[in-house]
Amino acid sequence: MSYKNILSTVNNGIATITINRPDKLNALNKDTIEELHEALNDCNKSKETKVIIITGSGEKAFVAGADISEFAHFDEKNGGKLAAKGQEILFDFIEQLSTPVIAAVNGFALGGGLELAMACHFRVASLNAKMGLPEVSLGVIPGYGGTQRLPQLVGKGRAMEMIMTAGMIDANQALEYGLVNHVTAGGEVIALAEKLAGKIMRNSSVAIKGAIKAVNANFKDGVDGYKIEIKQFGKCFGTEDFKEGTTAFLEKRKADFPGK
Ligand code: COA
Repeated sequence: MSYKNILSTVNNGIATITINRPDKLNALNKDTIEELHEALNDCNKSKETKVIIITGSGEKAFVAGADISEFAHFDEKNGGKLAAKGQEILFDFIEQLSTPVIAAVNGFALGGGLELAMACHFRVASLNAKMGLPEVSLGVIPGYGGTQRLPQLVGKGRAMEMIMTAGMIDANQALEYGLVNHVTAGGEVIALAEKLAGKIMRNSSVAIKGAIKAVNANFKDGVDGYKIEIKQFGKCFGTEDFKEGTTAFLEKRKADFPGK
């Protein structure tokens, strides 16, 4: 399938989705958000795609935020709808995908861009990356999950400071905060994400799906994550992947997992 605002390729089990509006620093407009939803949904359903990498086109930006020109004239009702729809079809959607999603942050990740990276299962960054939630400088607050996911990742005090000051942190600061897992030289961030994807792909996709559900349960109000873990753990015992994984271990060979 071809898209106007994104590029989507699959190679050796890894899908790379690139937001491709470099002239606008890959700002997320409505069409881009919808295209991302479609592409991610297709990758998640495909048996061939084992890991998804999201990145931005060009050397300057991952995503410099939601497209300000699209919402500058919105009223209260439309503002609420914008956040609700975006969270539903993209940000919560990514977090709950059963296929692992890695953000390869290759430059500015601001506002909706950082929120997009934070919705991914984990993040790696290039040294030139700059991250922040500058929404209050525009008279608005983060609306794509930023007020929730940033404190989960970096702690409440750091999140409050980043949100209130609208400032940016660099890649090393993000690493120290735990906002990104690894930092690498510019131009190598995709290779780093691919290396991690390769390690993930050696393992059972079916088990990883259960692990994602269990980890996410820890961050849902009113949900007992331990109970979800027990349920997902039990489910594994009925899978072909479990048979293969344990048999391969006992036979002292490398597992060849059948499922996704
Ligand atoms: N929405 C819409 N357009 C955006 C954008 C956004 N979030 N971020 C950048 N752009 C556009 C600029 O308007 C400009 O378009 P133009 O060439 O048609 O005028 C183009 O991308 C390049 O950006 P520019 O500001 O000229 O680059 P810069 O290197 O001077 O500054 C930034 C880079 C990231 C500091 C600056 O673009 C910026 O502050 N962007 C907005 C960040 C933000 O507030 N995001 C949160 C939105 S809720």
